[in-house]
Amino acid sequence: MSTFRAPGRFTFGVGALAALGDEARRFGNRAVLVTGRKALAEAGTTRRALEVLKEAGVEAALFDKVEPEPDVATVDRLRRLVREQGADVLIGLGGGSAIDAAKVAAGLARRDEPTRAFLDGAEVTRPVLPTIAVPSTSGTGSEMTNNGVISDRARQHKASIRHASLVPAVALVDPEITVSCSPEVTAISGVDALVQAIESYVSRHATPLTDAVALRAVEELVRALPAVVTQGENIALRTAAAWGSAMAGLALGNARLGVVHGMAHPIGVRYGVPHGLVCGVLLPPALEFNREAIPQKFETLRRILGGDPVGYAQGLLLACGLPMHLKEFGLDPETFEAIAEESLPSGSTKANPRDVTKDDIIAMLNRVT
Ligand SMILES: [Fe+2]
Repeated sequence: MSTFRAPGRFTFGVGALAALGDEARRFGNRAVLVTGRKALAEAGTTRRALEVLKEAGVEAALFDKVEPEPDVATVDRLRRLVREQGADVLIGLGGGSAIDAAKVAAGLARRDEPTRAFLDGAEVTRPVLPTIAVPSTSGTGSEMTNNGVISDRARQHKASIRHASLVPAVALVDPEITVSCSPEVTAISGVDALVQAIESYVSRHATPLTDAVALRAVEELVRALPAVVTQGENIALRTAAAWGSAMAGLALGNARLGVVHGMAHPIGVRYGVPHGLVCGVLLPPALEFNREAIPQKFETLRRILGGDPVGYAQGLLLACGLPMHLKEFGLDPETFEAIAEESLPSGSTKANPRDVTKDDIIAMLNRVT
């Protein structure tokens, strides 16, 4: 049996941010707007969001303290503000970090335990507050999914908090917001979205429905990348990337991912490698590893990518100005055994189409070091 989950509403379009006030007003008149520390304020997007909320009669408190890879302590602070504000709705405006923090804080709004307890396995329960997710990058697809990735730096731990009720009530995707992304953020986010589309397509949990969504995501992302990296003002390319990342999010939220994402968390939390970069670098060896397990899906990918998937993935990194290895992050082979041990129990690794062993993971790590 499979169940397909999606946001209650999906609003997409250039200029769609103007609808944020009306979307929020449907849930009440008190909101918390959750964003990162700088980029969106500098681009004027935060001010614009606050304006449209005010025009719709929504009183919004601003929480602009979400760091990349949000920590349990940040989510705890946000949860206190949500309580003080008596919020009816949380709005996550930003990359995956801001949206994930908003989703988790909304999911835990009626709970007293610290956020850390939920990284350790405490279960999210209803009732939760609704979330409106407004992505500022075309990457994580977090606006479509039922999980939030939270870090616990004190313990070098990073994991997903997951529950059906964490799927945003509204995903509001406005490609215009992504125009302010730097070429580097555009490249790293776009590559992450493509890895997510491909991993969800080949996942063990894929269904005909998730396949349809994942393949269209691959098509849109192949249209956008790498051109969107150097032509950031091109709204047609930004629109293709935004469709691609949202659809990849919808696919992965229902089909899960694969070994690349299983390895990405333990590597990212140890070495501070940006998530999309570690995923991009691991894609070629993971595709090579999976090749024999998924001959038909490989053939379909070859058709869409216009060539062998492994070669395409390597060429894309090059064309996006991204490295093909993680040398500059100083990966220490002494840690590979521990990384492998932490990668194996991940739900992503378990969804990989070919069974993965500790030695397989160490071999892939050696190829990118
Ligand atoms: Fe990812």
